[in-house]
Amino acid sequence: MAEVIILPDAEAAGVIAADAIAELILADPHAVLGVATGSTPLTTYRALAARVRDDAIDVSNVQAFALDEYVGLPVDHVESYHSVIRREVTEQLGLTPELVHVPDGSLDGIRTAGDAYEALIVEAGGVDLQILGIGTTGHIGFNEPGSSLASTTRWKTLTEQTRIDNARFFDSPEQVPTHCITQGLGTIMRARHLVLLAFGEGKADAVAGAVEGPIGSSLPGSAIQLHPHVSVIVDEAAASKL
Ligand code: GLP
Repeated sequence: MAEVIILPDAEAAGVIAADAIAELILADPHAVLGVATGSTPLTTYRALAARVRDDAIDVSNVQAFALDEYVGLPVDHVESYHSVIRREVTEQLGLTPELVHVPDGSLDGIRTAGDAYEALIVEAGGVDLQILGIGTTGHIGFNEPGSSLASTTRWKTLTEQTRIDNARFFDSPEQVPTHCITQGLGTIMRARHLVLLAFGEGKADAVAGAVEGPIGSSLPGSAIQLHPHVSVIVDEAAASKL
């Protein structure tokens, strides 16, 4: 059973998650972080940036691996996950840019990008702490319903629901890419500590399914139940169906 921590709001949750990450980095300056995009982890990154500044934590040797990337969006597009991770994580925390990795969503990488990314994670010694959000479809990373529990980094088709959910980041829904490259559920499960964050009523079904629903690919987040070290950090609204 995952450890479930219910907090009043996303700010408070961000502080708790940031503390866990800061302690990890203080214990191991070469820590490997798994970082997520989306709005959910933003309070964590902000709180961690403050902690890094206040306590002068050396993050120059920390490595980071993003979960996913859109396919077919130029890397310098403002909403590419390369851009988002650079803005919200690398620059805010002051990480060394060469040590921050995002999967290659370019058409050139179609055959090789998944395996190359897996190899990079292995070479880094694996992810110590993986930050996760969860989609309303129950996806983690971009592992939409139907994703194999053993899957590794690969291309996927986004569901219509996820494209609608993410349309808020684009000028129009049609601009949301149709495909992505994402770490697989098997990849995510190899991280040593999973920290899943979720806020708001819209996430309540996905959180309940992930934490205590049947384990299976129809709700990919339910894979976390098979992991020995999971922290689920949620606000009251997201916890309301537990
Ligand atoms: C996004 C990302 C996921 C994220 C999820 C929830 O599209 N690929 O990694 O956890 O969907 O997003 P949000 O935090 O904005 O609700």
